[in-house]
Amino acid sequence: MTQGAFITIEGIEGAGKTTCMQVLADRIEAHGIPLLQTREPGGTALGEDLRELLLGHRHTGMADDTELLLMFAARAEHIQRRIQPALDQGQWVLCDRFTDATYAYQGAGRDIPGERIAILEQWVQGALRPELTIVMDLPVAQGLERAGKRSTPDRFESEQAAFFERVRQGYLDIARREPGRVQVVDASRGLEEVTAGIAQVIDDFIGARNG
Ligand code: TMP
Repeated sequence: MTQGAFITIEGIEGAGKTTCMQVLADRIEAHGIPLLQTREPGGTALGEDLRELLLGHRHTGMADDTELLLMFAARAEHIQRRIQPALDQGQWVLCDRFTDATYAYQGAGRDIPGERIAILEQWVQGALRPELTIVMDLPVAQGLERAGKRSTPDRFESEQAAFFERVRQGYLDIARREPGRVQVVDASRGLEEVTAGIAQVIDDFIGARNG
């Protein structure tokens, strides 16, 4: 059986990932393609518990390496229990954040060298990489304003704007290095334009993969 496609969505807080997930899921399912929608950190019972530890305020001041290792612990569980089995069955997997978030947040944001992250990436994922990644990009101030209107800030959302500037640049650097995999969508525009941009990316991808 052909392996399913592994697609990830990334962006700073308030970039509109939820809308993006919905548009992508609708388009993929409209083609009759079986789809698993999931997220990181999380996606399994253990991963969701780790998410609570990572995002909650109980461990404010957690060491950067601990944060990095917990992200990859959740990821190992997620890949082995859900992502890889789904792909092996020919399902497509749509994941809200994956390892690019680690390079952007723990790498660019917390200043952990990319080579250290790459070691864990290789160890935990083997050859598994997303086939398509959409980075929802917008100015930090606009993202934080949107995110601020939602709920009480979690441990990451409580960071300063300068942190998110580094995270945003981290994502844009990845996109520059891997233009074949990473598509940047300008998320600063109105909903209709953003939706149309995302629809174009996924329609092209489905066309190329199934054509
Ligand atoms: P969100 O998915 O609801 O946006 O929240 C997840 C938070 O976790 C977000 O602030 C980004 C952060 N994160 C990392 O710092 N590194 C990672 O590898 C992942 C997957 C998420």
